[in-house]
Amino acid sequence: MSSSNPLTYRVSPGGKISGHIKVPGDKSISHRAMMLGAIAEGETTIQGFLLGEDTLATLRAFQQMDVDIEQTDDLIRIEGVGLNGLKATNKPIDLGNSGTSVRLMTGLLAGQAFDSILIGDESLMKRPMRRVIDPLTAMGASITCTDAGTLPVNIKGGQHLQGIEYTMPVASAQLKSCLLLAGLYANDPTMVIEKVLTRDHTERMLSAFMHPVQRDGHRITINPASQLIGTEINVPADISSAAFFIVAASICPDSDVILRNVGINPTRHAMLEIMQMMGANITLENKRIQSGEPVADIRVKYSQLTGIAIPESLVPIAIDEFPAVFVAAACAKGETQLTGAAELRVKESDRLKAMEDGLTALGIDANAIEDGMIIQGGKFNGGEVNSLGDHRIAMAFAVAGMVASAPVTILDCANVATSFPGFINIAKRAGMNITDE
Ligand code: S3P
Repeated sequence: MSSSNPLTYRVSPGGKISGHIKVPGDKSISHRAMMLGAIAEGETTIQGFLLGEDTLATLRAFQQMDVDIEQTDDLIRIEGVGLNGLKATNKPIDLGNSGTSVRLMTGLLAGQAFDSILIGDESLMKRPMRRVIDPLTAMGASITCTDAGTLPVNIKGGQHLQGIEYTMPVASAQLKSCLLLAGLYANDPTMVIEKVLTRDHTERMLSAFMHPVQRDGHRITINPASQLIGTEINVPADISSAAFFIVAASICPDSDVILRNVGINPTRHAMLEIMQMMGANITLENKRIQSGEPVADIRVKYSQLTGIAIPESLVPIAIDEFPAVFVAAACAKGETQLTGAAELRVKESDRLKAMEDGLTALGIDANAIEDGMIIQGGKFNGGEVNSLGDHRIAMAFAVAGMVASAPVTILDCANVATSFPGFINIAKRAGMNITDE
């Protein structure tokens, strides 16, 4: 799971988080804008596209399939090829570390006339793919993977997809989005039932591309598409990246920071609610809608936190923020309990184990359970932790270093570039004493 380009972070204790911070564009929204822009008719422009390794993997995949994509400064311009205009590639499509790319693209490619092979890095090659392959097969797709249910995935083109009604066995926006993308190419409507709400960026963005889905309670229906229409998308800053500074400001005395233009979609924002339940001082200013997504400036000031039992209903809506939340819990008074979060074991790393190991190495009493974590608030010692090539583990422990009693060294941090290019510079400017080598 370690990256081929090892990078080590060192964080010295002290400092506070202050000023105005603009974190990079939302990863989930950037992926979806690129995918829909590529298969739309006419031009799509994307302002604020995340230039991280994961979303660049999606961009390169479409370039490989002959889509014209241009970048000037902060603007991406895509010349859409239409629903059936993608071209076969003569080699496998490498999606690097990106789970979102591989799950969504499997759905999109299942409906094409040509064959495709999807591969990725050491971590991606271990992640579960049957959750998308099984329902796509029920739709009539022809897809194979390894016996372990992992990449490489071989997709045979030229299949006629039928719509199905599918109740998702896991709360996964990647699975839902995969089926909605395949549903564009089916002969009849596709219905996805999500028992628990997951991020709805695909549904919102399909409306922007003039192919709205219908939602009736927990049931989402997509009709076969004759065309999507290219549009202008303005991507908000990523709340999952902002989360590290929200926690850092909450635990470092005298902090007072404004995070600008952050997406606060109600299917993504539970981290704010969890932190507020713990006593964090967070206010939302200048709330507005941008390209169909709610955004705000988030102001965070230091405050003493208290441990809580995190409501299970909030878990899917804060799923990527738990590494950061665990660091907040380690600084809170008393115990924090998380349950209902077994999905954390199949992310870029087993995040329950990686966080338990790292927190323990830094002197915190943390115990991973099968589907969650129990953390006693305490004081971080200095020491060394391994991020296992997982971007969010690396950044969470960088935040911990600010309040430790001695420097913290974090190994294997190169993959921070998958979601947060420029993290070191933004963190330094915000007040973190961090170096990389
Ligand atoms: C994502 C969905 C979530 C999340 C991932 C991005 C998406 O994954 O963890 O970082 O963009 O749809 P799951 O669908 O596996 O929960």
